[in-house]
Order: sequence, then C-alpha cells, then structure tokens
Amino acid sequence: NQTAEIERLKKNEEVKRVALSAALTVKETSIFGPYNTLTHAVFKNVLTNVGNAYNGETGFFTAPVKGAYHFEVHILSPVGSGYTAGAALMKNGQRTFTAYESQTSNYQSSSNGVILVLEVGDRVSVSATPNSKIFDNQNNHSTFSGHLLFTM
Ligand SMILES: *[C@@H]1O[C@H](CO)[C@@H](O)[C@H](O)[C@H]1NC(C)=O
Repeated sequence: NQTAEIERLKKNEEVKRVALSAALTVKETSIFGPYNTLTHAVFKNVLTNVGNAYNGETGFFTAPVKGAYHFEVHILSPVGSGYTAGAALMKNGQRTFTAYESQTSNYQSSSNGVILVLEVGDRVSVSATPNSKIFDNQNNHSTFSGHLLFTM
C-alpha cells in the first residue's frame, strides 16, 4: 500500500545521509603511539555522526549502503627523535592512502583524503603508521571525517 511505500522511501532517504567527524580524544591531552607496526586508532570524540555509521568505541565506520564515500584524516604530531606524523586510511584492514610528514622541530601535521566505493558492511578506519605519534587535546587537532557522496 501507499503508506508502506512512502515509509520505505523515507528509510531509503535516511540511509543516504551519512556523515561523520571525530577527533582522537575527548578532553585530555594525549599522544597515541609510537608503535612499531601499523596500529588501529580509535577517534573517540565524536562531533558528527549522521546515520550512526561510525562507532566511537571501536573506531570503525561501517558502510550502511553501497556508494562512493569520501574520507579524510588530519594528524598533528609533536616532533621527537625519529617520530613522524603518519596515518593511513584503512578499508577492511588494508591500507588505502597515507598521510605522512617528518620534521626536525616543533609540531608537524599531515593529511590525506580518499574516495572509496564501499559495499554494505565494508569498514573504514585509521591506523597510525610505524613510529607515528598522534597528538590531540580539547582543540580537536587530530581528526577523522567522512561522508557518503552518492549511492550506487
Ligand atoms: C572539540 O570537539 C567537541 C565535540 O566532539 C566539541 O564539543 C568541542 O567544542 C570541540 N572543541 C573545540 C575547541 O572546537
């Protein structure tokens, strides 16, 4: 019937609204890393989570609908001997694009973005690259954002 059809279409519209923005930490100043290997990072400070596709406890974004999605990672990092600002955008545990910078003094920052075609259930996350230090405080310097561009 018509009411059911309208409800179905409304649900479809809802699932097309997917947007997230999260920073690494909630309040406290903290540094994630350095680790020897690629290490999953959880961006706990969730500012925007339209469609609830992102889980701020696990750090995973799970695609609710097939489509093209855009993701970005921005990392701020204090300089230390040999440490870098590095983070990779991960799709189902595999590296896609990587942000990287290595300076000799003060702070360093890096960022990258990627557009991915995701199937329902595909997971996107951020991992710190080896020897990377990711800094954050209440000013939300290190962030993970993404949104659905269009369904497919
Ligand atoms: C950092 O993010 C939180 C929400 O996640 C927000 O409440 C807070 O105002 C942000 N801090 C700044 C300085 O924008």
